[in-house]
Amino acid sequence: MAGERIRAVVTDPGGDGLRLADVALRAPATNEALVRVAAFSLNRGEVKRAMNATEAGNTIGWDIAGTVAAPAADGRGPAAGTRVVGFCRGMDGWAEQVRVPTPDLAPLPDAVSFEQAATLPVAGLTALHCIDMARALLGRKALITGASGGVGMFAIQLARHAGARVTAQVRSAEKAVFARALGADEVLVTDDGGGFAGNGPFRFAMDAIGGPLLANAVKALDKDGVCVSYGVSGSPEVTLPVADLFLHGRAALRGMHLYATSEIEPPSAAFPRLLGLLEAGRLDCRIDRVTDWSEIAGQARDLMDRTFDGKAVLTVSGA
Ligand SMILES: NC(=O)c1ccc[n+]([C@@H]2O[C@H](COP(=O)([O-])OP(=O)(O)OC[C@H]3O[C@@H](n4cnc5c(N)ncnc54)[C@H](OP(=O)(O)O)[C@@H]3O)[C@@H](O)[C@H]2O)c1
Repeated sequence: MAGERIRAVVTDPGGDGLRLADVALRAPATNEALVRVAAFSLNRGEVKRAMNATEAGNTIGWDIAGTVAAPAADGRGPAAGTRVVGFCRGMDGWAEQVRVPTPDLAPLPDAVSFEQAATLPVAGLTALHCIDMARALLGRKALITGASGGVGMFAIQLARHAGARVTAQVRSAEKAVFARALGADEVLVTDDGGGFAGNGPFRFAMDAIGGPLLANAVKALDKDGVCVSYGVSGSPEVTLPVADLFLHGRAALRGMHLYATSEIEPPSAAFPRLLGLLEAGRLDCRIDRVTDWSEIAGQARDLMDRTFDGKAVLTVSGA
């Protein structure tokens, strides 16, 4: 209800970075369902932004799973009582309740838990949309950089499902074990991608690191290969001789942003593709830990310090 106060995670620059506080539940738009949040997962992009925030009291949170408390007024989308997963583009999902446009929600199969579903929105959808930009992967080689990350771990598995032979890039031997366990056929331990050419040519590459890794991924494409850039965790500056693209034939470098792509294929259409794999036991969410949301500050710090692999899921007590 409008005017209602709810508990939510908010930015806390003077304190622990993030904390629980009372905030106003905003008034609904006609296409928004009200979701009672049961679990959420953390992504590096949003946590980094929140931990560096200078303003206190801002909400946060993309990835949620929970139960519809009130359906959208326009009559579309899931009914009250439906278990759902949601991508909260308003960055306000880490709360007891959140209003979500129904195109950003999908119903959960009975076999999928809230905790599993909460890992999917940003990491799973980003991996899915990047893999969708590959053509004819069956029996071909794919390169996944940043393979130890949230997106990377889903990308390894989805590229395998698309029929690719997967090479994963990580930056330590310890992370190589993680990438192999997720199904990578080859794992390269490298900071700059110097070994990519010797393992290619790749029909497809996806990169969130930038810098020399991205340049070397492009160099290692085959003559009809596509490299998708979706982040710059390492460096936004890349020296890329453009001849590396056309000398391979008609290789391409493309970008992917989840918000923009969600306008083309809404999460309500994309989620079921991942949920079907989860339901069939063919997608590993790699949940490293499930804790109560009162521990948000410590979990956010652990994520930023990269003290664990896989996803951290927080449950919303009282939901
Ligand atoms: N375009 C979009 O719509 C979109 C969507 C989601 C995410 N992103 C971006 O994609 C990136 C990955 O997201 P995520 O959630 O998967 O993050 P994550 O879980 O933190 O994973 C980051 C990955 O990048 C590696 N890495 C980080 N800094 C590095 C550096 N300086 N040099 C080499 N490797 C580095 C990490 O390796 P270690 O494990 O060794 O630390 C890890 O494999 C982020 O930049 C994020 O902002 C973009």
